[in-house]
Amino acid sequence: GLKVVVIGGGSSYTPELIDGFIRRAAELPTAEICLVDIPDGQKKVRIVADLARRMVDKAGLATEITISFDRQAALSGADFVVTQFRVGGLDARARDERFPLPYGVLGQETTGPGGFAKALRTMPVILAICRDMAACCPDAWLINFTNPAGLITETVLKHSRIKCIGLCNVPIHMKMNIAKLLEADPHDIFIDFAGLNHLVWGRTVWHKGIDVTAGVLDKMLDGAALTMKNIPNLKWDGDFLKSLGMLPCPYHRYYYMTDDMLAEEQAAAAPGGGGTRAEVVKKVEERLFQLYQDPQLAEKPAELEKRGGAYYSDAAVSLISAIFNDKREIHTVNTSNRGAISDLPDDCVIETNCVIGKNGALPLTVGKLPPELAGLVQHVKAYEILAVEAGVRGDRGKALQALANHPLVPSVGVAKQLLADLLKINAVYLPQF
Ligand code: NAD
Ligand code: G6P
Ligand code: MN
Repeated sequence: GLKVVVIGGGSSYTPELIDGFIRRAAELPTAEICLVDIPDGQKKVRIVADLARRMVDKAGLATEITISFDRQAALSGADFVVTQFRVGGLDARARDERFPLPYGVLGQETTGPGGFAKALRTMPVILAICRDMAACCPDAWLINFTNPAGLITETVLKHSRIKCIGLCNVPIHMKMNIAKLLEADPHDIFIDFAGLNHLVWGRTVWHKGIDVTAGVLDKMLDGAALTMKNIPNLKWDGDFLKSLGMLPCPYHRYYYMTDDMLAEEQAAAAPGGGGTRAEVVKKVEERLFQLYQDPQLAEKPAELEKRGGAYYSDAAVSLISAIFNDKREIHTVNTSNRGAISDLPDDCVIETNCVIGKNGALPLTVGKLPPELAGLVQHVKAYEILAVEAGVRGDRGKALQALANHPLVPSVGVAKQLLADLLKINAVYLPQF
């Protein structure tokens, strides 16, 4: 059987992942799922492991659920490694969401300066994991869920030899929501996705081979929800969507409605507002961990749906199964471009439809993007390339370039202030600087 190592095992998403392994047990014989965490996460990972054991028992599976705080020992013999850790925890995320606001800049977990800070904190850890994998399980697949998922996957693919695929639930979430809107079976829906992580477009939606894109856009304009729990559901501009003729992802609101999204964030962060998303998530998480401790509970609770990661287990475990069983199915993942989007460098990471089999992810050709996509994609990718260079080497010049070249940062002056704040606030997590 397979050995799967989950780094950041104490995440409240782990029961979601376990649920995915249980559903696919017949095609994916899993002998051991090892939950790796750090001493700070001890309490969480023990609660999660106990729940996972009850889930596996109830399903009648022999999968062993283990806990480890020794990453190298855990990694030896691993077939798949799933990374879902958060350096600095939700406190660090709350700081990411707040520090840009005084400058009139968006504060978000993955997009803009907040996402940059998270990326810089994560890079030393993900590269250390890759070194451990090279020593302990050089042939294992790394399925990276840690945000910003595209940027972190690009770091791994450019700076290690580990086989890595980056994963986000946005594409599958869009597909499932569209299936609901159309009252269709998700299996009958196919979406031509292309772009970057959290900047992906559904260019065409087919239902049983018929192009239904225009109809889906109409429903989106009627106010039909195509968003996620963690993103304010601001209404799209009708003229804009119609002329675009494609589906933006929920995160596009940060670029297309920057002023309104900033106002939402500022209201939430103000005294008496509901708090930033991390501050809301803290409460959701507290409640989840209360539920997880109920010895009668042996499945993922419905409350988990209050988190943004819906359908994560489906995406992750079906991806692992497609690799293991050499299915050569199409999944939407983060992988190196290799010419698929001709407007971008070959070695950068994109989020796109890929054929998935034993040899990994092979991106389908996208070709040249139309200018309304190419501009934003190239702009954000330039930031991402600079961010990887900055974070891997601890290069302050590149870090300033990364921020100054981010479409959501208005000037070099503001970029300098943001960088100074970010380095100061995160100093303990940034050994590379
Ligand atoms: P969390 O705060 O619960 O962290 C998960 C665990 O990571 C915690 O138990 C923590 O102790 C542990 N951890 C922290 N540093 C670690 C380290 N150096 N090594 C091992 N473990 C460590 O986070 P969460 O809300 O469950 O999210 C986990 C990660 O998954 C985040 O990076 C988040 O952004 C990401 N995520 C990604 C997607 C996606 O679409 N790709 C969706 C949801 C969440
Ligand atoms: C979505 C995104 C993830 C993000 C999550 C946040 O699922 O795809 O990348 O981490 O939302 O959800 P949360 O509940 O933590 O705000
Ligand atoms: Mn995501």
